[in-house]
Amino acid sequence: MLKVLEHHLITHKLTQLRRRETGTKDFRHLLDEISGLIAYEISGDLPMKEVEVETPMGACNTHEIVKEIVLIPILRAGLGMVDGIRNLIPTAKVGHIGLYRNEKTLAPVAYYSKVPKNLAESIVMVLDPMLATGGSASAAISGLKEEGAIDIRLVCVVGAPEGVKKMESEHPNVDIYLAALDEKLNDKGYIVPGLGDAGDRLFGTK
Ligand code: PRP
Ligand code: URA
Repeated sequence: MLKVLEHHLITHKLTQLRRRETGTKDFRHLLDEISGLIAYEISGDLPMKEVEVETPMGACNTHEIVKEIVLIPILRAGLGMVDGIRNLIPTAKVGHIGLYRNEKTLAPVAYYSKVPKNLAESIVMVLDPMLATGGSASAAISGLKEEGAIDIRLVCVVGAPEGVKKMESEHPNVDIYLAALDEKLNDKGYIVPGLGDAGDRLFGTK
């Protein structure tokens, strides 16, 4: 399933994020805010269990989220999405997967992986602002499946049709959430209109 979140506040902040003149400080802040808003939008269907709590007035039958949430940012740019989500889900565990794209082939190159145990019982949210060819997200998710993850959701900010197609063919059981589905990739594999290189803009490396 592909869900493009059409919340006006998300779209407004994404517009600021896209602007060429948005510098590193504001880029980081906006990505943080957008990630929190996305987390709020996509957590509405998290499985709940019935619980009874004592309020100062007596017993209350209510619900709480039953499953552990694991966030997996794809380094580097995925790191910019962690804090915004963790502010809302502070008990979430965080694993890290390091991947970069070979500039010529655009194939993902893996360089790091450290993920929590018990992935099989958790809801795993893979975080990366950019879904371009889909190579990085697909490789990360293949690795997570090998580690036992079953309930996996891919959470990105801007996606290209090419990346969505790859994900749907290689991981049809993974739901994809985007703040925007853009037009296409250019000949260097960048999303158009997109927002440029998310990692460089987030960390000020260019
Ligand atoms: C970017 C982005 C994704 C990937 C998307 O990372 O953050 O991980 O490209 O492209 P794909 O869908 O074609 O795989 P990049 O490789 O630039 O690494 P960085 O975050 O370390 O800069
Ligand atoms: N990675 C980015 O950071 N931006 C793109 O447009 C494509 C891949």
